[in-house]
Amino acid sequence: MRKFLKTKSLFVAGLLCTTSLAHAEDVEVLHWWTSGGEAAALNVLKDDLSGQGIGWTDMPVAGGGGEQAMTVLRARVTAGNAPTAVQALGFDILDWADQGALADLNEVAAQEGWDDVVPDALKAFAKHDGKWVSAPVNVHSTNWVWANKAVLDANGIAQPTNWDEFVAAVEALKAAGVTPIAHGGQAWQDATVFDAVAMSTLGPDGYKAAFIDLDEETLGGDAMKEAFDRMAFIRDNVDENFSGRDWNLATAMVINGEAGFQMMGDWAKGEFLNAGKVPGEDFLCFRFPGTQDQVTFNADQFMMFDQGGTVSAEQAALASAILSPSFQIAFNKVKGSVPARTDVDGSDLDACGQQGMKDLAAAASSGNLFGSMAHGHAAPASVKNAVYDVVTAHFNGEYGSEDAVTELVDAVSIAK
Ligand code: BGC
Repeated sequence: MRKFLKTKSLFVAGLLCTTSLAHAEDVEVLHWWTSGGEAAALNVLKDDLSGQGIGWTDMPVAGGGGEQAMTVLRARVTAGNAPTAVQALGFDILDWADQGALADLNEVAAQEGWDDVVPDALKAFAKHDGKWVSAPVNVHSTNWVWANKAVLDANGIAQPTNWDEFVAAVEALKAAGVTPIAHGGQAWQDATVFDAVAMSTLGPDGYKAAFIDLDEETLGGDAMKEAFDRMAFIRDNVDENFSGRDWNLATAMVINGEAGFQMMGDWAKGEFLNAGKVPGEDFLCFRFPGTQDQVTFNADQFMMFDQGGTVSAEQAALASAILSPSFQIAFNKVKGSVPARTDVDGSDLDACGQQGMKDLAAAASSGNLFGSMAHGHAAPASVKNAVYDVVTAHFNGEYGSEDAVTELVDAVSIAK
């Protein structure tokens, strides 16, 4: 390890000296990490870089799932002013790589042996035509439930393990006058819940057929209608102010005991930790009932925009910092995600993080690891947006479950 780290720092130092820049410049980083927990995680990266003498120009664009960030990015690139590095998800990375906009990171990747340590599920989006075009920072997953332990205990509710138990728990909270489900009514949040609900209702084969293979029969089938019925149940059990609420404010409702559950990716854990809460004592994390053996993942990566030829020294240093084993642990402990490398020791992570790592490894080896539809890892953005539209319209009562499946089939067939 020491030899590796030494080689690595020599390599980055070499790049810093041999580029046309006499000294390191700032990196400008476009991202959507604006909540308290996300900002705390981002600081780990900023501090790491500042330790190397590299400054940070922040370009935050709020909005989970990154839709708004991607809109801003497109405008910047069109104006000929791409940021140095950009947080991105799955198919969006491949899309920019297809357009030839991304810098080639193969040199730093080869020096640091990324091929041997980054899992294939992430390489599928980090590499394009044999070229590394982005640096994976973490692995998140969307099929989690976050619960306030005191609220559950006070109402005699055990952690639900299947849909019927979940329904019973929700009914019990409602009867006790507690908001059962904290939710923010934004399309990406509705879709995040739908990832888990669809996985639980359709099963892994059905999830894959619908959202990865885009099979019309599955998209329009009875199990999909059932998934929409379950979404309607969830809609009936959120508070009346849910519309438009940011995800972290929904998390705060669970943290403060105003609500029992939130279905959200494990970035929610960053909010609990940032509020000083302890897993297992103050809050519970568990897989959405019926998805205990599956993981719907999304990985944040930083794509490096081609600034005119070779990768710059700052881009190489940023990429190198992101994938260093010590940073992977330090960052992911705060962010709520798990490392993007298979060779780091996760014993330093809290109970939820350790479960996340264990689930990820088990799902990868049993063939139960699937890209998240809601977070750009199942299908390209056009299809994702089509699914968002239908899920949100149904969630907001524009049509019932029967019509939702018809709309879904039509919308996906137009988009694909
Ligand atoms: C990203 C997370 C982020 C979340 C909410 C997801 O798409 O992968 O890193 O915390 O959105 O902003």
